[in-house]
Amino acid sequence: MNKNKKLNVSIVMGSQSDYKTMKLSEKTLKSLNIPFEIKIISAHRTPKRMYEYALNAEKNNIAVIIAGAGGSAHLPGMIASLTSIPVLGVPIESKKLKGLDSLLSIVQMPKGIPVGTFAIGEDGAINAALLAASIIGNNNINIKKKLKSWRTSQTKSVKKVPK
Ligand code: RP5
Repeated sequence: MNKNKKLNVSIVMGSQSDYKTMKLSEKTLKSLNIPFEIKIISAHRTPKRMYEYALNAEKNNIAVIIAGAGGSAHLPGMIASLTSIPVLGVPIESKKLKGLDSLLSIVQMPKGIPVGTFAIGEDGAINAALLAASIIGNNNINIKKKLKSWRTSQTKSVKKVPK
């Protein structure tokens, strides 16, 4: 890892069709000024791409990986098996089983290779980005401050009485 380079978040997804969900991770990172890259990598359709990506992630100064996948959703677990960088898995809402398949696949990683698992769909994509910010914020005071002010505005946005 190059210590002089900024540490980045990497957003990956199994298919172009996942982008409508994963763009929420992108939007959240942008709002916090966190540098990131975004890629489509399929564990079963582009296994070589996945392998190269995961093996080089540390060298490429990636600090956290957010991986969105649907259906059998093996992408987050496969990437996690090839790197010790934290992997945050976002279950994509699938057509047939509404994402329950994706959720159970990602959350049920056998012991030894952890994958952080989030809510199905857009909430998960947003929370994965916020957790990535928390992780990076441990070593970056500016990101920590950004995250605190994001939370403060969220708190202020909740009205005391309904209208
Ligand atoms: C998974 O298969 C992807 O993560 C996606 O959620 C799902 C369906 O992919 P497409 O058929 O839309 O390309 O690999």
